[in-house]
Amino acid sequence: MALERTLFIVKPDAVRRNLIGRILASVEERGFRVAEARLARLTREEAQTFYAEHQGKPFFTDLVEYMTSGAVMLTCLEAENAVAGLREAVGATDPAQSAPGTLRKLFGESKQMNSVHASDSQASAEREVKFFFGLAALSR
Ligand code: CMP
Repeated sequence: MALERTLFIVKPDAVRRNLIGRILASVEERGFRVAEARLARLTREEAQTFYAEHQGKPFFTDLVEYMTSGAVMLTCLEAENAVAGLREAVGATDPAQSAPGTLRKLFGESKQMNSVHASDSQASAEREVKFFFGLAALSR
């Protein structure tokens, strides 16, 4: 199986609770390598563009508000089968519905404040890694 790269974000609720280290340790223990990382504060425009597919949904305005409310840890993770593997490690959107041992079950607070983001497909991973880290980060 080929190495893949995917986007992983530690969201503001988790950064606020000092969970960056524990969450990144947990993904490393699950076999992912941190290929790129940057602490950032998203602008409204960045959050709106990043989540463009959710524009018009009832939670969109609150989502942008939340994602710009504090720092986020942006990372590009590498592993074999990284996209699907990370989605499995992250769990369902709603922490209450997430399987035991998943990151959202362990750390998430609510459907919105679910602590982490992971690209949901190969196409999203390409778009999202490029959006935050540039084209070169897809294959370095
Ligand atoms: P994420 O995987 O980053 O993708 C979109 C985000 O929108 C999601 O995680 C949640 O933070 C948020 N979200 C999705 N569905 C809902 C919902 N029904 N109510 C509130 N927030 C949501």
